Amino acid sequence: MTRASVALVAGVAGFLALTSFEIAHARVAPPPAQSGAALPEGEGKAVVEKLCNTCHGLDYVWPSQRTVQVWRETIDLMRAYGAEATDEQWKIITDYIVGNLAYLNVNKASADEFGMLFAIDEQAAQGVVAYRDTQGGFKTVDDLKKAPGLDGARIDALQARLILE
Ligand code: HEC
Repeated sequence: MTRASVALVAGVAGFLALTSFEIAHARVAPPPAQSGAALPEGEGKAVVEKLCNTCHGLDYVWPSQRTVQVWRETIDLMRAYGAEATDEQWKIITDYIVGNLAYLNVNKASADEFGMLFAIDEQAAQGVVAYRDTQGGFKTVDDLKKAPGLDGARIDALQARLILE
């Protein structure tokens, strides 16, 4: 192969790589309304701002309406993409994201998701899910407040991130 054709092949490969990268990005545009908004205050914010701003901007992270489960999968995906942090930092990052950004579909969420978002233990979270099932689901925030083990003030604080459908 001549030098020119090596350069040509490299150029084509680079172009193809760039194109597929752009296509991958095209399907993940965050909702424009709040784009550029700062991350909410909370413990661990600085750690998230530092790590999650290295491969893409924070605009890419926030805001996006992901449930607790989807956020955990997204965090695993970032690790697979090569995001590096210590186990302790990953815990801080996960707690920050779940506590401050994640949405919860109260009628579909697992006990595990309730546990993480409300910071309650496994038994209490299972009690919430069992109660939900006996009630045929939560139709209003007030229904949710009747669930044993859920703090009313925390429910109020989370209201914008609770999905009742
Ligand atoms: C090592 C590089 C890297 C780091 C560090 C990184 N990301 Fe990503 N992230 C990516 C790549 C690459 C994509 C594009 C994937 C795609 O388009 O599907 C992406 C996409 C995303 C998306 C959109 C994905 C989707 O499924 O729609 C979110 C949300 C996200 N990153 C959050 C984060 C958060 C939160 C952090 C910090 C914990 C982080 N990223 C750190 C590489 C990284």
